[in-house]
Amino acid sequence: MICLGIETSCDDTGLALVQDGRILGETLSSQAPAHAVFGGVVPELASREHERHIGRLFDALLQQSGVALQEINAVAATRGPGLLGSLLVGASFAKTLAAMLNCAFIGINHLHAHILAVGISEAMQFPALGLVASGGHTEIYRMDGYDKFTRLGRTLDDAAGEAFDKAGAAAGLAYPAGRAIDQLAARGSRGRFALPAPYLANDNLDFSFSGLKTAAVTLARELRKNGMENDLPDFCASLNWAVCRAIAEKCRRALEDNPDINTLYMAGGVAANSMLRETLNSLMRKRGGKFASPPLRLCMDNGAMIAHAGEILINMGYYHELDAEAIPRGRKMPDDYKKRTFTA
Ligand code: KG4
Ligand code: ZN
Repeated sequence: MICLGIETSCDDTGLALVQDGRILGETLSSQAPAHAVFGGVVPELASREHERHIGRLFDALLQQSGVALQEINAVAATRGPGLLGSLLVGASFAKTLAAMLNCAFIGINHLHAHILAVGISEAMQFPALGLVASGGHTEIYRMDGYDKFTRLGRTLDDAAGEAFDKAGAAAGLAYPAGRAIDQLAARGSRGRFALPAPYLANDNLDFSFSGLKTAAVTLARELRKNGMENDLPDFCASLNWAVCRAIAEKCRRALEDNPDINTLYMAGGVAANSMLRETLNSLMRKRGGKFASPPLRLCMDNGAMIAHAGEILINMGYYHELDAEAIPRGRKMPDDYKKRTFTA
């Protein structure tokens, strides 16, 4: 099967073709520069940019991979959660192609796809914990199979990446600031500023990063009054460490609650963070367990994770009719796959 994947949930337009788990080609257009002047993603602008670029990216994908249009026999698009206008651009493009090629269509859960991207480079094992940490989401799942995700916890307010991006902006770093914070933190002392690891005095597996975000923004503004240059590495290290501790502690508790699990998968843009990777890797190593995360390029929003998840699910018999709705952020993703039954 050659499966096309289309990702347009936020500000990256990503397309890819996969065949039997192998990536045949990928194209990606990041809108970050267009949104940087506003300090965050502007939904109306995002959907217009997707619409402007998707056709060109699709043509480039076919050229790059040497696949002919008619050879595509499955189409997967991000169904949600995401910005509705952005989702609609990708879904409409995907449905039109599926109708034209008379092939299977499937709408993909963006968060599940992030974690399943681990499977592009290695065989996944279940049960496992799956953590998504990005600019818009921080969620933790129990996974009992490619199609069996149980959410154990989520952020009640801001995502980890949002705290990085807004605190970074207050410290004078360009949007999105996560990567710069990661690099600066490597040179800093994480104990210098007392930024508390948030939302640990409770017995659930949820997260909350809005308090930490406000504390870090306030601290950055204070420090900038005296010129922040020299404090920046310590500020970044302290903020990064607070985020790491909050995430690692909830993962540790999730493992205690699920004693049959000793594997942790992490994905999403914030999964690119070196301190977080090292912290979680060390947590799992100490337990004699396994930690894995996709290569950095596939941690960010991309088309390959959607194509990959699509191929797996379609091979399991799942699909959607063309009337499947896009699901914006904040609305529960329906579990409404259609299922083909295979006859031997
Ligand atoms: O998954 P993603 O590309 O888009 C979504 O939000 O869905 O994630 C983008 C987020 C941004 O908040 C960005 O600052 C953060 O990932 N990020 C990082 C790093 N690289 C990207 N955060 C911390 N450390 C990094 N190395
Ligand atoms: Zn994402």
